[in-house]
Amino acid sequence: MLKRWFSRRGHFHGTLEGREFPLTSGHTLLESALNAGVSLPYNCQVGSCKSCLCRVTNGKVRSLVDLSYLLSQEEIAAGHVLACQCLPESDLTLAAVSTSWTPARITQAVALSSTVWRVTLLAEQALPFQPGQYVQVGLEKDKDIRSFSVSWPSRGREIVLDITRREEGRLSPLLCDEQGAGRKVWLSDCRGQFGQKDDGNGPLLAIASGSGLGATLGLVRAALARHPHREVMLIHAVRRRQDKFDLQELQRLRQHYPGFHFLHALSREREVQERELAGRVTCWLDDWRALYPRRTAVAEWRVVICGNPALAQACRQRLLAGGVMSHLLEMDCFSPPVGAQNSHNNKEPVC
Ligand code: FES
Repeated sequence: MLKRWFSRRGHFHGTLEGREFPLTSGHTLLESALNAGVSLPYNCQVGSCKSCLCRVTNGKVRSLVDLSYLLSQEEIAAGHVLACQCLPESDLTLAAVSTSWTPARITQAVALSSTVWRVTLLAEQALPFQPGQYVQVGLEKDKDIRSFSVSWPSRGREIVLDITRREEGRLSPLLCDEQGAGRKVWLSDCRGQFGQKDDGNGPLLAIASGSGLGATLGLVRAALARHPHREVMLIHAVRRRQDKFDLQELQRLRQHYPGFHFLHALSREREVQERELAGRVTCWLDDWRALYPRRTAVAEWRVVICGNPALAQACRQRLLAGGVMSHLLEMDCFSPPVGAQNSHNNKEPVC
């Protein structure tokens, strides 16, 4: 009965955990749910925080953003979507993805560069995670939530995040604050499967921009620990020389693992030194194999790209055009691709 009433009014019919509501064409799932008074967690409304993650168990949606930049293949295959970024194309049955929250306190915040900070948090209970996963962080359980990739191996309850401090943001200035030790935050369980496609076979190209180096190094360390003689090239894209960080760790890996090679792409420097490339990293990807000391067939390379979405997308296009196999390439982007259509583009992400 309700279904017929909805379709007469030009709506689709939605069900979320047993609650029925009209899905209006041209409105996101989140907008329709909220208009009907159906509660669904959300925060940024620009596809950045992943708070509105839900699962389509029946029906068809159209995403306004390329979900492959934001969710893992497994999440997409399981029907996960971001409610703030999806339009209904049929009647839908949705399932909420519940988040369990753990209180934590900031124990340390250290500036790694002019914009990137390393923030260490101590959770009240252990939060196991795999390198490449992310955690949601908020000052309250469902408020001002932001997703950050986990950077370093957890020691039980400790979680380390590399965060870009955005002066206009609501959360990052509070996290990236030397005086912030003791501040209470809430952490979600660890999610995502970035890097999990890597089966350890073949050489590995890892490209990170800005604060994406922390998560990328986590994957690289894990890969080298499993296969110490593996060929691995890491390129960290930053603007200027002073934006580099974790140089000691990069040198340590280079000394320890014979196949590990790293470079910095400096988009705003003209003069370069050893292990540096002048210009945007994309300029070097047409002939990127020349950057690695040994020659290996391009189709054998696994690729992980982490960081700025526009840069990641541009790198992906270059690499695929150059022969990298798409099923061997994974990306973890920190916010929606630039230019993605969004009905809330007047809102700032809550980073
Ligand atoms: S509310 Fe949808 S991703 Fe943040």
